[in-house]
Amino acid sequence: MANVIGGIGTTHVPAIGGAIAKGLQNDPYWSPFFSAFDKVHTWLDKARPDVVVVFYNDHGLNFFLDKLPTFAVGAAPEYKHADEGWGLPISQPYPGDPTLSWHIIEALVADEFDITMCQEMLVDHAFTIPMSLLWPGADSRPVKTVPICINTVQHPLPSAARCYKLGQAVGRALGAYKSNDRILIVGTGGLSHQLDGKRAGFINKEFDLMCMDKLVHDPQALTPFSSLDIIEKAGSQGVELLNWIAMRGALTGHVKKIHQNYHIPISNTASALLLLENNAGAVPLRKVG
Ligand code: DHB
Ligand code: FE
Repeated sequence: MANVIGGIGTTHVPAIGGAIAKGLQNDPYWSPFFSAFDKVHTWLDKARPDVVVVFYNDHGLNFFLDKLPTFAVGAAPEYKHADEGWGLPISQPYPGDPTLSWHIIEALVADEFDITMCQEMLVDHAFTIPMSLLWPGADSRPVKTVPICINTVQHPLPSAARCYKLGQAVGRALGAYKSNDRILIVGTGGLSHQLDGKRAGFINKEFDLMCMDKLVHDPQALTPFSSLDIIEKAGSQGVELLNWIAMRGALTGHVKKIHQNYHIPISNTASALLLLENNAGAVPLRKVG
């Protein structure tokens, strides 16, 4: 049985990629952000995941407004990055894990999630920046990847409850996967931010900290929110919180917080980092919600 070892929520602001490219990690603006990852690196050195399942949102690189799936699962042997217009270096392709991807896809469809399956998928900054933050300096990361895209761009967006259930379904699929793989779940984006419109620059610290707290021990408390509720409380791009909620849904065991950081702002965003350890053996797998 595969072992889901933990979950990480992290911001994916493109400017982070620029700071990495220029080596600004110790700069006064950036160091409160980058130094928070030291504890994550120590944990990853010990936890040594084989595969990472990444819940994120595409911002127009692979999908555009004309055709935009609510949920899409990568099933490719590798995932290429490409120029998104941010002026960031293009990462080397990320290795996929088609066997695990197809297992997840089969389980999700059997579980009534009518996802889009992608045997080719470009990954954008919402995938590449977190990978660079978790495994800095390495253009060949020591993990295989399964990208799962959630639409946070083109309305109507899925609800928090739906994303939580998607995460739970992925967690059940991983629990039934016959392998000894150690699997890490990542959710990217947020927390509160709004990049345009009347509320450009909007940040809601109180809401963010409440969400981070609930994500640890009471994630169900976040499930009553509609996507529009989250936009009202966290800004129109703050709705990327949905990726964190899906990540948490996939942690079906006993969850312990290892590390948390919250720092305002990075670019226009309230940056946040949450590392949760998952003791998969502690709680029997069951369908919740
Ligand atoms: C910013 C944040 C994002 O989540 C994103 O996708 C692009 C830009 C920002 O704060 O600059
Ligand atoms: Fe984003």
